[in-house]
Amino acid sequence: MTSKETARPLRVLQLTDPHLMASADGALLGVNTRDSLNAVIAEVLASHGQPDLILATGDLAQDGSEEAYCALGESFTAFNCASAWIAGNHDKVPSLKEVAARYGANRRHLVQGGWQFILLDSSVPGKVHGELAESELGFLVQMLEQNPDVPTLVTLHHHPVDIDTDWMADIGLKNREEFWQLIDRFPQVKIVLWGHIHQTFEQQRNGVHLLATPSTCIQFTSGSRKFSVDDLAPGYRWFELQASGDFTTEVCRARSFEFELDQNSTGY
Ligand SMILES: [Fe+2]
Repeated sequence: MTSKETARPLRVLQLTDPHLMASADGALLGVNTRDSLNAVIAEVLASHGQPDLILATGDLAQDGSEEAYCALGESFTAFNCASAWIAGNHDKVPSLKEVAARYGANRRHLVQGGWQFILLDSSVPGKVHGELAESELGFLVQMLEQNPDVPTLVTLHHHPVDIDTDWMADIGLKNREEFWQLIDRFPQVKIVLWGHIHQTFEQQRNGVHLLATPSTCIQFTSGSRKFSVDDLAPGYRWFELQASGDFTTEVCRARSFEFELDQNSTGY
């Protein structure tokens, strides 16, 4: 490897909440979720090119169907790199894992480009809120103890902090205090990343960057008291990670994707 290659940042793509369905016609609030995902992927390739790694951070399927997970795997064949899939509240973990394994995406830990990636399952069967089981918290500690000097991105589906969207207050991560007590012990954690909230979120907590990202289908209105959908275009998050631990990140949207949102919906 040349020095130029070693200096190149690792390019990581987050795609979240595609809410795919068994039927190719499957739509959420009037938006065909396969079409919107593919529009986002086209935008990624046009604006940023090929990533080195894809993190798919939950609500991959709206209906938990094998067909939906296969559709995700097929859409990701547009990329040349590996992906890692985690579950959200809409997913069915057994079928997600079974299909993810077929696509080499059933991963919960990677070290790549001088960074460590730890993927946690915060889904609770039958519930909208999230919780990290003792086994997940134990896994998090084990990986952080084994890699003390490696800049780390931790990702899960549910929001582990309060966000400015009241109706989502009770559907985030329930045992967030335990999570943060662990994170606070390990200064190599640079980023905590999630999906679920279908909107951009960027804050810092004790030097850790807290980041969330628009869905590849419908968006929730930031700052809303009651359930509300926003007519912003579907999007993605792009990272350029340096082995030093420095990084840049941005959210981009599929601006040319045309859709008509059902604004009268009271839920999703
Ligand atoms: Fe979602």
